[in-house]
Amino acid sequence: MKIVKVKNYEEMSKRACSIILEKVNSVENPVLGLATGSTPEGLYKYIIDAYKQNEVSFKDVTTFNLDEYIGLDKHNVNSYYTYMKEKLFKHLDIRPENYHLPNGSADDIKKECEQYEKLIEQAGHIDIQVLGIGVNGHIGFNEPGTPFTSRTHVVDLAESTRLANARFFDTLADVPTQAITMGIETIMESKTILLLVSGEQKAEALARLLDGPVSEDVPASILMEHPNVIVIADEAAWQ
Ligand code: GLP
Repeated sequence: MKIVKVKNYEEMSKRACSIILEKVNSVENPVLGLATGSTPEGLYKYIIDAYKQNEVSFKDVTTFNLDEYIGLDKHNVNSYYTYMKEKLFKHLDIRPENYHLPNGSADDIKKECEQYEKLIEQAGHIDIQVLGIGVNGHIGFNEPGTPFTSRTHVVDLAESTRLANARFFDTLADVPTQAITMGIETIMESKTILLLVSGEQKAEALARLLDGPVSEDVPASILMEHPNVIVIADEAAWQ
């Protein structure tokens, strides 16, 4: 595990952007794994800037997002589809058929999960997966207790996660109770993992990842067993 300590959120985002650009510019038909939440917003802004400066093209890039809420239409303002479209995809030359999120409105959710796994496999697996971390150590929406052997599946969101994400919704009751997420094993098959950690509210999760045992109680702790992880964490995230 390579740990990069940076001063603040901006520096974290900039460093992450140069790692992503390096990957996109060096791999043929790159496959990116992407995340939502507040953490990668700065990274996406820097990627858009780089694209506008002609430093990178996304026309041969395929992407897979980690997760999506169940029960929100993809055009709902709070869906992760809308987040990705507004904060990244619509600003780039990525082909609409090349970006993927799980469909949280699918009639057959189990089939949707299997299909998502197949698509990732057919794309040749993820070259670099961007990850944030939940306050409870979750990755994607894999809450504490999720088996390390999990593949893309449906989750019941932890109350702490719904509370943490309520800031994006009008009321807590509007926050969905379920989501589809890539499984932990699916995430671990990514060739490289880029974990971004910012802010003091993440300090405990980061400490449990770095110092604690590898345990299903802290989903992110499995990253200790991945051969190629880069953690970029800002000063506030270190206790
Ligand atoms: C969310 C997402 C995760 C994200 C994490 C942290 O619930 N499902 O993919 O990494 O929680 O979010 P944030 O970056 O907003 O702190």
